[in-house]
Amino acid sequence: MKISRRDMLKISAGTGAAALLLNEVPVLAQERPLVMRAIPSSGEEVPAVGLGSARTFSVGASGEERAPLKEVLRLFHEMGGRFFDTAPTYGSSEGVAGQLVQELGIQNDLFFATKISTGGGRQAGIDQQETSLQDWGRDIIDLNQVHNLRDTEVHLRTIRQAKEEGRTRYVGVTTSFGRQYEQMEQVLRTEELDFVQVNYSLGERQAAERLIPLAQDRGMGVIVNEPYNVGRLFAAVSGRDLPDWAAEFDCESWGQFFLKYILSHPAVTVIIPATSDPEHLIDNMGAGTGRLPDEQTRTRMEEFFDALS
Ligand SMILES: NC(=O)c1ccc[n+]([C@@H]2O[C@H](COP(=O)([O-])OP(=O)(O)OC[C@H]3O[C@@H](n4cnc5c(N)ncnc54)[C@H](OP(=O)(O)O)[C@@H]3O)[C@@H](O)[C@H]2O)c1
Repeated sequence: MKISRRDMLKISAGTGAAALLLNEVPVLAQERPLVMRAIPSSGEEVPAVGLGSARTFSVGASGEERAPLKEVLRLFHEMGGRFFDTAPTYGSSEGVAGQLVQELGIQNDLFFATKISTGGGRQAGIDQQETSLQDWGRDIIDLNQVHNLRDTEVHLRTIRQAKEEGRTRYVGVTTSFGRQYEQMEQVLRTEELDFVQVNYSLGERQAAERLIPLAQDRGMGVIVNEPYNVGRLFAAVSGRDLPDWAAEFDCESWGQFFLKYILSHPAVTVIIPATSDPEHLIDNMGAGTGRLPDEQTRTRMEEFFDALS
């Protein structure tokens, strides 16, 4: 049976249950392959739509709170998703996700991206790295990043040493603050890095002016955080219908409109929208399939979005 993405969303919206999707998801994957991107420093390919976890995975111990998150992870994996971003300072997120991926038996299938996130010195960073490995039941972290440029030199040394020892595969740095862009540019010019992670969306386009092109010139992968500007983009289009021309790039929802804008930037490697809702996960994964907007359409999307405010 062939089933379209639109049908799938109707099914899931109508039933409120993800169980029906179980057998249909692989059909979707066959129908439209996922957009893949190569990591510049290695050529390894990853699906361009990943999954973030700040706030969304920071829940308590109850089964009620964890069940939808387990379903989000199960669907993500089932639909071919790989890149999962977390941090030791996202409340309980890293530990909750770590437990759920181990319950699902998928901890080694996912691309595990985490961070060193402490101003407490070298040993505190090493301790976080060890806790991340334990939380996920892994021997290797795929990508470790210095979070928000906090003690960059100190923690880059730790991550590079782990890379030399074969316990980390890629090295990166992150920010989501415009006020750190100048400092970030300096880091990108002087350090050899596999990845830089930065905020970029239709609502916040500043990173595309200098930072993202610089990362591209330096041969670094670009991970985009806050792709929905922490959910604010949905408020901006509240009550509005998608424009007809969104169909020209296989876009069926506002979520896909926002994500496809970012994915169509040629320097972007991975985007990491966060969700605690299985239906939103399916929507987000759909953004990583089908056509993407061309340069002219990107400009049209920007003009459309700017005219809303
Ligand atoms: N400095 C750093 O290193 C840094 C900084 C910021 C973020 N990050 C990373 O980037 C990830 C993403 O950023 P973010 O979590 O701040 O914000 P975001 O991904 O821009 O937005 C998340 C919000 O969008 C909603 N949402 C997701 N998919 C949706 C859909 N299809 N339709 C409607 N609503 C949807 C979510 O609610 P529901 O749960 O209801 O879906 C959530 O409230 C973080 O989780 C984290 O992993 C890193």
